Amino acid sequence: MSKGGLRTIVVGFGQIAAGLGDDAKMARHFTYATHAHVLRDHPAFDWLGVVDPSEAAQRRARDDWKVPHVGGDLSAVADRVRPEVVVIAAPPGRARADTVQQLPDLKAVLVEKPLGIGGREGEAFVDFCRKRDVKVMVNYWRRGDDLYRQLAAGGLADRIGKPQAVFATYGNGLFNNGSHLVDFVQMLMGEVATVQALDQPTQLANTPLAEDWQATFALTLANGVMVMAQPLDFHFYREVGLDIWGEHGRLALYQESLGIFHYPLADNRGLESTMEIASDRPKVLKPTVGRALYNIYDNLADVIAGKAEPWTSGEQALMTEKVLNAVLTSAAEGYGRLHFQ
Ligand SMILES: NC(=O)c1ccc[n+]([C@@H]2O[C@H](COP(=O)([O-])OP(=O)(O)OC[C@H]3O[C@@H](n4cnc5c(N)ncnc54)[C@H](O)[C@@H]3O)[C@@H](O)[C@H]2O)c1
Repeated sequence: MSKGGLRTIVVGFGQIAAGLGDDAKMARHFTYATHAHVLRDHPAFDWLGVVDPSEAAQRRARDDWKVPHVGGDLSAVADRVRPEVVVIAAPPGRARADTVQQLPDLKAVLVEKPLGIGGREGEAFVDFCRKRDVKVMVNYWRRGDDLYRQLAAGGLADRIGKPQAVFATYGNGLFNNGSHLVDFVQMLMGEVATVQALDQPTQLANTPLAEDWQATFALTLANGVMVMAQPLDFHFYREVGLDIWGEHGRLALYQESLGIFHYPLADNRGLESTMEIASDRPKVLKPTVGRALYNIYDNLADVIAGKAEPWTSGEQALMTEKVLNAVLTSAAEGYGRLHFQ
């Protein structure tokens, strides 16, 4: 039954749209693990349709989520719903721009990361939406998290001072989790000024995104901070982590954002009249990631109402993906440092 919010459809009904919510461990930490969970509850959105060529996905939308208009053909669903919002949770590809093109009443799109893999696909998409006056938000969901927003707004500097050295790890692909990592770095510590590949990227087989890469690289941020990023093989274990050593403390965000540790300054145990980081005595911060995706939808509703700027805009996402492309370019051109600013 219609609940009177913004008429919304989801295009692509796989893992991030709904499936991840079936993982019992994920559900323990993320009240809102998927778009479906938010759309079920959020009063500003009226979830009326799902489009996916997979019959299994369609069945799921119909039977498990009771979505009224479900099918494999966008135009058929669009005719019945006349969507004002589309959530694009299909992988990157031409279909994303085609989707926007076929929805004349569209006000906003919430699209999954990455916008594209290499090339100009992402720019073309954002450009197209701008010309149509359709707002674009990209699901770099950490930007919706309360604690991370507080860290970005000064909480990080309050705890550890200016960062001196940053170490980062990711896996399962540069454009997949590497994009989250680079976006998170920029959210917490500011824009990237230079990019340098440190090794030859390797192309990955059987990763979530076709034609993705693993790469070791260094970023210099506009404030002079350097970030060293190295990939891990997720066959052994998963991690997307950041370890930030500041002038008067250290903050580590591990276990894919669920383990957050603040290590304050302490008297040096091995030498008089100097200090150390209490690396063996962290203060554990409680993660708030469970509602981050819901918060992104709050922001989306406010953006549509003209009451807020997007926390995770298409332009910001393009900047992040420009950094990823620059890693590949730097490697192809002999590991030179590429300047952005
Ligand atoms: N933000 C995050 O944390 C996060 C997490 C997981 C995945 N993702 C991103 O979400 C996207 C999808 O990933 P996933 O893991 O859900 O993939 P998935 O393979 O589980 O689901 C993709 C779905 O899209 C459907 N699809 C493919 N082409 C389509 C088209 N033209 N129109 C409609 N539906 C189409 C497929 O049938 C499938 O059901 C990727 O870009 C991925 O990087 C983001």
